[in-house]
Amino acid sequence: MNGIVECKGLEKFEHRGFKVLYKGSIENKQELRDWLLEEGYTLNGEKDIELVAYIIDYLYNGNLTEATRKAQRKIKGSYGFAITNASKAEVVATSNNHPLVIGLGDKQNFIAFDLSSLLSYTKKCCLINNGEICILTPENIVIVSPTGEVINKEEFQVSWDGTMDKGKFEHFMLKEIYEQPDGFKTNLSGRIKNNKVKIEGLELTLEIVKSWKKIAIVACGTSYHAGLIGKGVFENLLHIPVEVEIASEFSYRAPLVDEETLVIVISQSGETADTLVALREAKKKGASVLAITNTLNSTINREADYGVYIWSGPEIAIASTKAFTMMLLAEYLLGIYLGQIKGSISEEKANMLLENIYKLPETASKILAEATQYQKIAEKYYQKENAFFIGRGFDWPISLEGALKLKETSYIHAEGYAAGEFKHGSLALVTEETLMVALCVQQSTYEKTLANVKECKARGAQILALALEGDKEVAKIADDVIYIPRINNFVAPILTVIPLQLLAYYISKARGCSIDQPRNLVKSIVIE
Ligand code: G6P
Repeated sequence: MNGIVECKGLEKFEHRGFKVLYKGSIENKQELRDWLLEEGYTLNGEKDIELVAYIIDYLYNGNLTEATRKAQRKIKGSYGFAITNASKAEVVATSNNHPLVIGLGDKQNFIAFDLSSLLSYTKKCCLINNGEICILTPENIVIVSPTGEVINKEEFQVSWDGTMDKGKFEHFMLKEIYEQPDGFKTNLSGRIKNNKVKIEGLELTLEIVKSWKKIAIVACGTSYHAGLIGKGVFENLLHIPVEVEIASEFSYRAPLVDEETLVIVISQSGETADTLVALREAKKKGASVLAITNTLNSTINREADYGVYIWSGPEIAIASTKAFTMMLLAEYLLGIYLGQIKGSISEEKANMLLENIYKLPETASKILAEATQYQKIAEKYYQKENAFFIGRGFDWPISLEGALKLKETSYIHAEGYAAGEFKHGSLALVTEETLMVALCVQQSTYEKTLANVKECKARGAQILALALEGDKEVAKIADDVIYIPRINNFVAPILTVIPLQLLAYYISKARGCSIDQPRNLVKSIVIE
């Protein structure tokens, strides 16, 4: 058989012997609707897929490939579709600004709209570019260019050894949380030699690094939170200004980036449409683009000038966990690598940081060994409907990420705040029903954060604090304290988030939520 591998969010539609599978977003919808109505089609709904089916139906004169090519020219936007006709055993697929991947099997071939969906079927793949059309039968694959020439595609073997089963874990999210110590080890192996960082595929010279007068980090969701930590890391290690922006905002405000800017795009999937649009905008303006991604050969990777992989293996749960911590580690290593080239960090500092970075696998394992305490805490707080996560400095982006994890998996309304900002309005929402998760890890702001915690406590909130082992002060105020092993403050964010991932997991479990696939969410958002 030849198959169309279905990924989440895929739409299906049938019309007069045509079966269409589709993903994406059409930009010139109204124009196409008007045209089809004029041609006598009755449009039953608002869905893009219906338009695709009718357009193919209109253009079809016995040759599905030809009809697909003509349809491709008419439809504007970011989309991929695959289509069959009852009269012939073949699948024809194409895409525009959207990933489309072919999987090669044994007497069976596959089409998918993202690479990870294919991996449980085959690891031998090839990528289809904008406007190319592929024609699949069980034995054969033909790929043609937009102008009709047959193209020979390079096949590649995906090397991820991550399996698609949960093993001993009840959910992928928990499995992925527990994979973090190994993920750290994978990322560190081969990247540090004689206390010098080396990143595979990245060969930068002093001249290039010095030409970057500023960094702009652009990303969405969890990756954006990783970017906020990256700001602190790169500013500290490279001594240049760093901006961080949500990708969906970046392109629409004429961003001030130019040839002297390094734009770092961060994306687990490497396919997020908003991030991709931002990348293209940055390149148009002459900036160098470096992509931090988890997905080999993803569109973002292919289009960026430089790439750093985070090697976390496939992440199946929609709530991102291991990819986040591996993004952070990639940022630290990248910062040290660039700093060593530029001479902006001393040998002593690099040694100290690397020493602490080497401790990550072991310290993460220690945190994970305490999982039972999270179950107890979850039992106490799982019925809450509102939670705030507060922290200062590096604890602030981790508060945002902790709140995101909790809201997306448990559906509890949760917000992260810079602790000092909380009193400027949000404090009004605090009642006896409120759960405050207070991150008290960063020591330079510790006293100030504690003062903010006290303000919330005085308003009746229940306080769950996250603090370093041996901290006696915080226990006097908080209702519960989660302690993490003492680790250097600068690298602490990589670990501070792990207890919050566990907290979100166990609270969601206590609430009986669909942990791996929360309602309304998808793993990779390929529409703007
Ligand atoms: C979706 C996912 C998030 C992810 C975000 C950005 O919203 O559910 O977990 O952080 O997209 O994805 P990316 O693949 O670009 O990191």
